[in-house]
Amino acid sequence: MCSIIAYASCNCNDVSSILLDSLSLLEYRGYDSVGIAVLNGSSISVRKGVGNVKDVNRKHRLEELVGSIGIGHTRWATHGSISDLNAHPHTSCDGRIAIVHNGIIDNYLELREGILKDHSFKSETDSEVIAHMLEHLLSRHKDIKDVMVALLRLLHGSYAFVALLNDGTLVGSRHNEPLIVGVVPSANSILYHYANRKKYNDVFCSSCFISSDVLAFIKYTDKAIFLSNDEFFILRPIKHGYRLSIYDAEGNKIGKQITQIAWELSSYVIDKGKYAHYTLKEIHEQEYTIARALCSKINHEFITRLIDARRVIVTGSGSSYNASLYAKHLLARVGVNIDACIASEVRYSSISIDSNDVLLAISQSGETADLLDAVRYAKSKGCKILSIVNVNTSSLVRESDYFTSINAGPEIGVAATKSFTAQLAVIYKVASLIAHENNSNYDYSIYYYDSLSSAISKGVRDIIAREHLLSSIADTIKDVNDIYVIGKGVNHIIALEGALKLKELAYIHAEAINAGELKHGPLALIDNSRSSVVIALNVKDNTYKDVINNVKEVKARGGYVIGISDCYEYKECYDVMLDLPSIYDTNERDCGFVNAISYESLAYPVYQCIPLQLLAYNIAVKKNYNPDYPRNIAKSVTVT
Ligand code: F6R
Repeated sequence: MCSIIAYASCNCNDVSSILLDSLSLLEYRGYDSVGIAVLNGSSISVRKGVGNVKDVNRKHRLEELVGSIGIGHTRWATHGSISDLNAHPHTSCDGRIAIVHNGIIDNYLELREGILKDHSFKSETDSEVIAHMLEHLLSRHKDIKDVMVALLRLLHGSYAFVALLNDGTLVGSRHNEPLIVGVVPSANSILYHYANRKKYNDVFCSSCFISSDVLAFIKYTDKAIFLSNDEFFILRPIKHGYRLSIYDAEGNKIGKQITQIAWELSSYVIDKGKYAHYTLKEIHEQEYTIARALCSKINHEFITRLIDARRVIVTGSGSSYNASLYAKHLLARVGVNIDACIASEVRYSSISIDSNDVLLAISQSGETADLLDAVRYAKSKGCKILSIVNVNTSSLVRESDYFTSINAGPEIGVAATKSFTAQLAVIYKVASLIAHENNSNYDYSIYYYDSLSSAISKGVRDIIAREHLLSSIADTIKDVNDIYVIGKGVNHIIALEGALKLKELAYIHAEAINAGELKHGPLALIDNSRSSVVIALNVKDNTYKDVINNVKEVKARGGYVIGISDCYEYKECYDVMLDLPSIYDTNERDCGFVNAISYESLAYPVYQCIPLQLLAYNIAVKKNYNPDYPRNIAKSVTVT
């Protein structure tokens, strides 16, 4: 999605290089064009263009802009084509205001054709109206605070924006899009000794960042202020620094807490280590992230709310929706009355929601607009909100009554990998805790999760060690047109996730099919032309024999089948088989794997998922696609 960065410093005249560095860190969110605006004296210069940060900088020399205050943006087109002119920042007619914006201004046409009919627009974007509205309102109000109050009354839609004024002031606000201020305290400032719960009316700082993502500034400061919906900030230059003030929509100054962000976030973002791509690094990290997720602290209230709810609606988008299906599968088995619904459908679903229900929202970023919309809709119906989330500073966490972190660390690759398996691990733990709460005969001691973690970590290591085989399978299938991933029961959920990875990383049409449904239609697509292949998820659970029969149906029609399995009994049915480690290598009784939610309910989904991630990654690399930044999609989808 689009990303915003603004930086003001009293002791640096080279803000452009810091803006560019931050924008590169935000590229993982998705982008198609890049730009910055920097103030020098009283003149604002803008440079921008289509492409990634490195290429646009090479072509338009963004880094040469000199000044101590500036704004930057990576755009992911929604209104208007991908072009240099539509890239942000956008400026007012008089060039004295430059803005960057995320989200969608719903009433931009109305504003363009009404109040702003005498203004000349340079782009097709909705965003540009913000620069012109500010220019219009500045000609009517003396005080920038009154301008902001008037502006927020006129803007409809979802937005986070920052405007740079040519007197050195920065202003900005948000509505349903994230905007976070990072402050670097002045020497001797009270902020050096800031108190955690204290609220500050004015913050004095030597430099200040404003961004849509803390990753953009965590290298420079760990002190952040999270703006709430409809609040706005004014950052004014003062002697030896800046004064930051925050106001509510009516223009009343409000006190804000300063949050200390975990420094360890920074070490994740700096480099890919020994790996060619973040995606590969994150796939490998699963050996640790699943174990860490199993150690996540889960609030007792989180569990009892799920048990006591008349009904739970579990929701998410993309991979997080696939995790929601897993939650539905496991939680139903421990007696929770649960329905799953795609986040963008919650508002339109026939499931009626009221205050007896609980919405369980699952998300990596916690910023997905469709999900936040579902959360706000459910809240308006009186529902309690529980969430399972990776980014603990996200909007979703702030909107939730209770949340559980999956502790996967920042995920930079656009495709969800380690966050998905960490979600599965947390859901598994939630289901086991519910089983324990409902029937204390099931003993889920810490010892149990420790043993489970080490058994799964070992399995993940063993699968990753088979990467050479996956690479040769990738060679065989990289040019096919279609891949059908079949599975039954919980394995079908992993088929959905695998098909999603193949689409987004390898750009191959891939479809998950319930294995038993092949004969009800999809078999018509199978022939011996090798333009399509079938991947059968076929572990040694109660679906094994059925799926073997489905594999035979495909083979009888000349289809090519790749088996992913831990069972060798019918190995000859597949054209090639990727063998999974046996989940029972470990002495399960010694490990205490005796419970309602068996060890295999987590181990099998995880073990089948990782080869599919590696396959999609290897195909992408062989086809020269960048797996970290797949075309057309974004990490954090902040538009509905
Ligand atoms: C798939 C993928 C997306 C996200 C979806 C939800 O690999 O990354 O489908 O899963 O956009 O994002 P979060 O989990 O951040 O809400």
